Amino acid sequence: MRSVLLWLPLAILGIAAGTGGESVAAQEPSPPHLLQRVRHVLADEGRLAAAIEAGRERGAFCFYCHGEDGNSRRPHVPKLAGQNPVYLLDQIERFATGARRTTYMQALARRFTDEDKLNLVIYFSSQPLRPAGGDPALAARGEPIYRSRCIGCHGLDGRGRRGYARLAGQQPEYLFRTLREFRDPGGRRDSPIMRTMVQGLSDGELRALAHYLASLR
Ligand code: HEC
Ligand code: HEC
Repeated sequence: MRSVLLWLPLAILGIAAGTGGESVAAQEPSPPHLLQRVRHVLADEGRLAAAIEAGRERGAFCFYCHGEDGNSRRPHVPKLAGQNPVYLLDQIERFATGARRTTYMQALARRFTDEDKLNLVIYFSSQPLRPAGGDPALAARGEPIYRSRCIGCHGLDGRGRRGYARLAGQQPEYLFRTLREFRDPGGRRDSPIMRTMVQGLSDGELRALAHYLASLR
């Protein structure tokens, strides 16, 4: 527990910093009320510890694919450890409403109460991430593309902030597929912002980006 509580504030720092209210909300990828709900739990150590415990229990079912500590070892399953809790909560809501299409995760997300969802994302995001690692040659090609197109939202270190996803250390195969889905019409994830960001990039460039991100810690 001690390591969790020491680690968590680092992940949250990005959320806590620069939260100036309306000005941030206007450009926020996730609805501000999700940010508020996460912050409410993080602000109180007792509440935080209870949420982590409840999330661990409720999440037992998720471990099979995402790993007990959120460090999935399956190439197509994303790691949830160390992920931004606001981003995770937003994605679970998207699964539940069908805005993000994945048959399995959609059916699952609909079964949870708001409280369950919050506890689950607090639990997984509080687990230390073990970076997936990437191919060094591909990563070297990906770095300049990342720096020129992506740091504005996901950060120079790829750790995300506010409602933006952490990309650093994620499974490279999952990243590659996800980027392709954003780019190609009819993808399961429809994000006008991300479509613009990856437009014109080849499969080779997307793979290079994925390996660069997977190699970040
Ligand atoms: C049978 C395997 C499986 C199980 C069990 C499972 N997931 Fe998933 N999950 C996936 C896959 C595969 C994806 C990626 C879907 C895609 O490609 O869009 C995913 C994606 C996610 C994402 C999005 C992550 C991101 O980076 O965008 C979240 C959040 C998530 N799962 C939470 C959960 C939670 C919470 C549970 C347990 C209640 C759970 N999952 C159980 C397979 C599973
Ligand atoms: C203007 C802000 C912005 C920029 C710049 C940006 N992104 Fe994103 N990114 C987002 C948003 C918003 C989402 C969530 C999209 C959704 O799920 O609807 C996202 C989601 C993602 C995801 C999904 C993460 C996951 O766990 O499933 C990946 C991967 C990603 N971005 C990679 C990139 C890369 C690579 C670049 C540069 C080529 C980039 N992004 C540039 C805003 C941005």
